[in-house]
Amino acid sequence: MKRILVATDKPFALSAIRNIKSVSDKAGYELRLLEKYTEKSQLLEAVADVDAIIIRSDIVDAEVLEAARKLKIVVRAGAGYDNIDLAAAKLKGVVAMNTPGQNANAVAELVFGMMLMQARNRYDGKSGTELMGKKIGIHAFGNVGVNVARIALGFGMKVFAYDPFVKKEVMIAYNVTPVDNEEELYKTCQYVSLHIPANDKTKKSINYQLIKIMPFGATLINTARKEVIDEEALSKMFSERKDFIYLTDIEPSNNAELSRDFAARYFATPKKMGAQTAEANVNAGIAAANQIVRFFENGDTTFQVNK
Ligand code: 3PG
Repeated sequence: MKRILVATDKPFALSAIRNIKSVSDKAGYELRLLEKYTEKSQLLEAVADVDAIIIRSDIVDAEVLEAARKLKIVVRAGAGYDNIDLAAAKLKGVVAMNTPGQNANAVAELVFGMMLMQARNRYDGKSGTELMGKKIGIHAFGNVGVNVARIALGFGMKVFAYDPFVKKEVMIAYNVTPVDNEEELYKTCQYVSLHIPANDKTKKSINYQLIKIMPFGATLINTARKEVIDEEALSKMFSERKDFIYLTDIEPSNNAELSRDFAARYFATPKKMGAQTAEANVNAGIAAANQIVRFFENGDTTFQVNK
């Protein structure tokens, strides 16, 4: 009998677990749960005799892969897979997958939750501003970017996007104006929403040179990854530009300093909340479970990210 472990430091909604269990039961597999673990040793113990693992932002490094002696597949229930050591997995013959798109709307809605909260001065009674008519730049036009565009258009915003991997015609089909490079996006848009993955090319790529050219009211929203921001550039921007605002779903290392010195213009969720909705959990959880069953039953490797 195959065993699936759901290992989530940040647990799924109960409804998601029920759905994952029903996919697993139907396939005749055993489902195990390791939620809210605090020590890596708990993960190392839990993976020892399972065939498949479903994770979120949980770290699956070489040590975890080594401890998982029977492991054949690990599925990241979500988009970004920078938390899996892909090379180590490949070396061990473990297939790594993600579930692209399944939590994209949830992340996009959080972008607007944070933007509205800030535009209305965190509901302190003072006169705020509206999103309608403002320019928003979507940095990377993947699944989350597409959802951000849909919602932004609903608000009556002017929507621009930059993504070297997406054809301009695709953006135009979504009523989005494509731009030729990052500089043009940042120069044009008061709001910029980040949706780039964290990799060697993107780490610290959102730097001072780029954000300093944003127009007045510059508001940078990061629901992507901590690593893509140059954190020193953030401090510099906050000090130099009294209009600069940073809204993030991932606390930077200088969170304490930014919260202390720039509280009115800086907001960070206490824990990554973008994908933390029942709907996103259910969608990503079911997709992950189905991908595992299809992999074992039919050898289906669609969504493999470490080919
Ligand atoms: C993702 O890459 O899918 C998002 O960042 C969500 O991550 P989470 O599942 O840890 O909330």
